[in-house]
Amino acid sequence: MSTFLPQQFLAQIRDGIPPSAQDIRTFIAGIGTGKTSPAQIGAFVMAVYLKGLGKDEIVTLTKAVRDSGDVMRWNLDGPVLDKHSTGGVGDNVSLLLGPVIAACGGYVPMISGQGLGHTGGTLDKFSAIPGYNVNADNDLFRRAVKDIGCAIIGQTGALAPADKVMYAIRSATASVGSLPLITASILSKKLAEGLDGLVLDIKCGSGAIMNNFEDAKALATSLITIANGAGVKTSGIITDMSEPLASAAGNAVEVRNIINHFHGKRDARLHEVTVALCADMLVLGGLANNEADGRAKVEAVFDNGKAADVFARMVAALGGPNDLIQNPDKYLDTAPIITDIKAESTGIVSAIDTRKLGTAVIVLGGGRKSPNDQIDYAVGFDHIAPIGTKIEKGDVLARIHARTDDHVSEAGKMLRDAYILSDSAPDNPLIIERIGSGA
Ligand code: URA
Repeated sequence: MSTFLPQQFLAQIRDGIPPSAQDIRTFIAGIGTGKTSPAQIGAFVMAVYLKGLGKDEIVTLTKAVRDSGDVMRWNLDGPVLDKHSTGGVGDNVSLLLGPVIAACGGYVPMISGQGLGHTGGTLDKFSAIPGYNVNADNDLFRRAVKDIGCAIIGQTGALAPADKVMYAIRSATASVGSLPLITASILSKKLAEGLDGLVLDIKCGSGAIMNNFEDAKALATSLITIANGAGVKTSGIITDMSEPLASAAGNAVEVRNIINHFHGKRDARLHEVTVALCADMLVLGGLANNEADGRAKVEAVFDNGKAADVFARMVAALGGPNDLIQNPDKYLDTAPIITDIKAESTGIVSAIDTRKLGTAVIVLGGGRKSPNDQIDYAVGFDHIAPIGTKIEKGDVLARIHARTDDHVSEAGKMLRDAYILSDSAPDNPLIIERIGSGA
């Protein structure tokens, strides 16, 4: 075996020459041992940002980052499945999807994250449930997955630690927005969960990280190609994020929204995306014969209460209350001011600046301005009027949950400004494209 010379390896990437798989593995392994210096990591991420990497090299990079920490192994009587979403506003699909898949015979060991930028985070929504331990240790996490079928917690330092180091350096060196690096970063963490199948929800629109379809499609294609190349059956859908997915945006308000969903009071768009993703997961995992069969199974576990039961057991197993679904108001924090934000003109909702709406949640205190900020779980919006709603002057655009009158003024104005009223509304498809769908 020849001696690894990091300078030579970096020169190859800088010059667009594909490096060997072994060199990629050695370079990434050196992040954990300290043999690869921060300067070399900085040079690496910038060179990849500028020159890109080929498919085989991205697969090798993804697996090397995955292998920088623990990779979970499961020995269960059903497929191990998960979903990744690129994030949006009012996107509480994960809270429904994990329990649905478990109720259908799959296992979901979901590692999720905090809100990023204007988008909400699954972890923050679970943190709104008193007692729920998003930092559960490995034993509790594994036991919950095995006994209940799903558990949703935050990233532990043991999973893909090289990604954490690389991400911090990417942030500091203007090299976050590189498709190969984003792909390796997202997938290394998901693949460390030891999955048999993965579905991706790539959001597109004013509330998504990817605003336009071409960028969303490029990311979806990259993620699906590399995940399949790394040996995990993966499909994806590109979905509309030009308005909030649920009629609520915040943390406790989104938990209430999914409890209503389990009780049968369902937002149509949230339901459709959840059913579509779950049906694809069931097909990937061999738990459904085709999309129609998968959809029927998903609807059944919503209607017969099995998905709600899994959710309740998961919450209790991770330290939350036993009766959250029966008595949400006993546990979920309520904001002192809850009031309607009314329209100042008349028309049909033709567009919503969803990024602005997500930013208004941050202004209320429901998201972070800096990474270590404390979140106010009670605040946010619900009763959010969707695109296509006919609005008379004085009608409700949304209901605000706020801590102070100043917050009502500032975030209420942002919400009003986010709404575009005109004399017609576009018919935006909710599921814009399916890629490599198993269904
Ligand atoms: N999310 C990640 O985990 N990594 C990225 O690089 C971008 C989004």
